Amino acid sequence: MNATILPNSEKHYPVLLKEILSIISPQNGGTFIDCTFGQGGYSKELLKFKTTNIIAIDRDSQCKNVAQKIKQFHKDRFTFFNKKFSEIDKIEIKKSKVKAIIFDLGYSYTQIKDPGKGLSFEYKGKLNMRLGINNFSADDMLNKLSQKDLELIFKYFGEDKDSKIISKRIVDHRLKNNINTKTLVNIINSVKKKSGRLHNATKIFQAIRIFVNKEISELIYGLINSAKILDINGILLVVSFHSLEDKIVKYFFRSLSEDKKISRYYPEEKNQNKLFELDSKKPILPSHEEIITNRPSRSAKLRYAIKKKNITKFEQDFIKRFSKLLEIENLSEKL
Ligand SMILES: C[S@@+](CC[C@H](N)C(=O)[O-])C[C@H]1O[C@@H](n2cnc3c(N)ncnc32)[C@H](O)[C@@H]1O
Repeated sequence: MNATILPNSEKHYPVLLKEILSIISPQNGGTFIDCTFGQGGYSKELLKFKTTNIIAIDRDSQCKNVAQKIKQFHKDRFTFFNKKFSEIDKIEIKKSKVKAIIFDLGYSYTQIKDPGKGLSFEYKGKLNMRLGINNFSADDMLNKLSQKDLELIFKYFGEDKDSKIISKRIVDHRLKNNINTKTLVNIINSVKKKSGRLHNATKIFQAIRIFVNKEISELIYGLINSAKILDINGILLVVSFHSLEDKIVKYFFRSLSEDKKISRYYPEEKNQNKLFELDSKKPILPSHEEIITNRPSRSAKLRYAIKKKNITKFEQDFIKRFSKLLEIENLSEKL
């Protein structure tokens, strides 16, 4: 779940904004990339500083409307690309030095409130969950993939303990009828006892959304390609909202900033080939005030790293580490 918005309110709250601004110092100007433009919360704020140049990316074509409005007032300092952020290294940045790249993962309030996107378990109708630039929908995967494949997706992307029985009931049900949002929620409710505050369907819906939008490879290649185009001393910042995302971000930053021991006889030896430096190994969390104003922000975690070197081949270990998740994502090739 993303956390930029206060539920039951049209007001938009970009999460951890104050903290992000204090890390990237936009008052000193420079080029910034907002990889998850959404409703433009970060981009608009960054444009308030007169010498900034903002490049914004979002896979959802509906963001173009907001982007066009911003462009009217900031013709020379703002550019929007309707692309996936894994392709960040392919966008034209006019040789500017990139000072910071920001990711605010997940989906926006506008997207979850759009019945056509089918992201919410509150709406009836066809399952979709495509954020934009997708090859298949939730409807395709739930009605076509095997029981075993669905179980793997629910287990690894939703970390749901009832993955096996839920996938079996889905496959049994679809022998008679297609699976839609309502039938899926009913199946999940028939398996789970009403739990605490989390809706019974939260984890399964999360797993489906991650799979449909290929969020694992998007994040992995988004991070790798961002690290490649950042300037030296540029900062890479990621706001994540669930443990799977955070695990990936944390590993990327930590493993590429470690002082690996070159020999156990020379434990003090520093690794001269570190890509990043970290100010802290711990994530930054929203303040008590922010959580009160914008309740969904409570699950947000901000991590950032400062690029220290231009290193070309650093990604192999990172990709290998998450190869099981990438393998599961590739089950989509059967569709
Ligand atoms: C949490 S919202 C961002 C909200 C934004 N920070 C704001 O203040 O308005 C996440 C946005 O990222 C976009 N997004 C998610 N995955 C993406 C990807 N792989 N490439 C590009 N955009 C993506 C979604 O479409 C959504 O608009």
